[in-house]
Amino acid sequence: MRHRLILDNITHTFEDGGMQRTVLDHLNLQVSEGELVAVMGPSGSGKSTFLSIAGALLEPTSGGVLLDGEAIAGKQKQALSEIRLNKIGFIFQSANLIPYLKVEEQLMLVAKLGNMNKVKANERIKKLLHKLGLDHRRSAYPHRLSGGERQRVSIARALMNDPAVLMADEPTASLDASRGMDIVRMIAREAKERGKSGIMVTHDERVLPLCDRILYLENGRLIDNKHK
Ligand SMILES: Nc1ncnc2c1ncn2[C@@H]1O[C@H](COP(=O)(O)OP(=O)(O)OP(=O)(O)O)[C@@H](O)[C@H]1O
Ligand SMILES: [Mg+2]
Repeated sequence: MRHRLILDNITHTFEDGGMQRTVLDHLNLQVSEGELVAVMGPSGSGKSTFLSIAGALLEPTSGGVLLDGEAIAGKQKQALSEIRLNKIGFIFQSANLIPYLKVEEQLMLVAKLGNMNKVKANERIKKLLHKLGLDHRRSAYPHRLSGGERQRVSIARALMNDPAVLMADEPTASLDASRGMDIVRMIAREAKERGKSGIMVTHDERVLPLCDRILYLENGRLIDNKHK
């Protein structure tokens, strides 16, 4: 199958009190279409740093990222934010919803940023909210939603522009076990049914059976099969 996302020899160093600290050390990864990859590893091992680089939020110290065959390195800020907006959906540990926007407005905002026409955007919002079991919450503000509902809105938001890649950083951390499973099931289903590629950082062993591959971040590299 075709590789959707390639991380080629990624090294990343942070300056730490005058010292250089290497967090990622010649890391390589290839993710195919329709594949959901879990990334595990101890706190501070560099998982979020890795995800930020894979999602074009952070430029690596060296190495390359290819998304659908296109190199991300050296692109201007504007081009990078367009790539993020159109090709990558982010789901974080907490939903990070905008407090003064209703559920449907959170999604409309993303559509506007992506220049989607309003009729199409409304159709998509309706479809996504239905798919995520949020029909009845359409006009609710975030503070009136449960934790699971908020996280489902953040998934809807990540899917709004139909991105090729989904990046999730501990998406189940703020949820109880069964809601957490539901969220990952949704991410896995998007990958399987719509051919999206997903990378999910997680500490949650229960969701691993839903993933195609489990990688462990250790000494700055991704290691296969440790938990299989
Ligand atoms: N902007 C930064 N400047 C300096 N050091 C940083 C920066 N961001 C992260 N680090 C350091 O890089 C290392 C990896 O951080 P990262 O957040 O990627 O770890 P993580 O695996 O996601 O941890 P956790 O499981 O706790 O979320 C840590 O030692 C962290 O302190
Ligand atoms: Mg992290």
